[in-house]
Amino acid sequence: MRKRVLSGMRPTGRLHLGNFSGALENWKRLQEEYESFFFVADWHALSTDYAKTSDLREYIHLMLVDWLAAGLDPHKSTIFIQSHVPEHAELHILFSMITPIPWLERVPTYKEQQQELKDKDLSTYGFLGYPLLQSADILVYKADFVPVGIDQLPHLELTREIARRFNFLYKPVFPEPQPLMTEFPKIPGTDGRKMSKSYNNAIHFSDTREELWEKLRTMVTDPKRIKRTDPGDPEICPVFGLHRVYSSPDIIKQVDVGCRTAGIGCIECKTWLKNSLVEKLVPIWERRTHYLTNVSMVKAVVEAGAKRAREVASSVLTEVRDAIGL
Ligand code: TRP
Ligand code: SF4
Repeated sequence: MRKRVLSGMRPTGRLHLGNFSGALENWKRLQEEYESFFFVADWHALSTDYAKTSDLREYIHLMLVDWLAAGLDPHKSTIFIQSHVPEHAELHILFSMITPIPWLERVPTYKEQQQELKDKDLSTYGFLGYPLLQSADILVYKADFVPVGIDQLPHLELTREIARRFNFLYKPVFPEPQPLMTEFPKIPGTDGRKMSKSYNNAIHFSDTREELWEKLRTMVTDPKRIKRTDPGDPEICPVFGLHRVYSSPDIIKQVDVGCRTAGIGCIECKTWLKNSLVEKLVPIWERRTHYLTNVSMVKAVVEAGAKRAREVASSVLTEVRDAIGL
């Protein structure tokens, strides 16, 4: 029996290179080895954006398109939308009965996010329950491993606590899922900060070749390299940061030496980076266009995904109801 992996992402719209190298490349590797479940966490999106849902459908669709474009394979992974599997919600309400409120109040993201997203009223029941819904997402499949970023570790810790409490109160139904932390390369954005949608410094899958070049052309470099004859320091240059992840060892070496000796100019350096990125992006662009023009194929993927997910989730729910005595 293969071990089971599960992860989700909130539908925030188009994916960028940071998401790709941070999560999706990892998911792609995992789908080869594990029984994998990947879902769009649309209920979780509501927990912060309940007041503005006009773009939600589009965001969900674009995220699925980008996942498929990136190479998630619906023949290998179960790909679905959270709200298509109501068992998540049933398990969430059952967990809510056994979860002391302080367990939720002390999850660090709770107060942090309330502080950070001051423009939204997050004094809601659903927002407090965010990590408990996540626990239900994970445990409803009895997932063994959950690939997540470091910021999600407290949510996983809560998930294990919920599993233990349930097992103790009723019957040993749930395994304790483990986080799967992988070393991710740091992906700098065009302004040198971490690539992020909210910094407006991201390179998206949806960018055209021309948009890509425009972003690279105007990208921040070593600020001390003003004239073409000034030697530069690649270590502090975000362009080099991207070369490191996306270029061949040969090119990386040439940039490293060429920059330090003023043997190459920044535009030349950026042209090489563009070539490396285009090579990576061409198959992604092709699949993206394919799924954008064949909307029904995306629908078919998530329909089959929900069907498969519900098979697993409903059998776990049967055990759960039985353990509780419902
Ligand atoms: N909270 C996660 C995030 O913001 C998304 C998520 C929801 C998730 N449910 C999950 C991740 C279950 C892993 C497992 O990234
Ligand atoms: Fe950055 Fe390349 Fe210019 Fe060096 S040559 S400063 S690495 S863009």
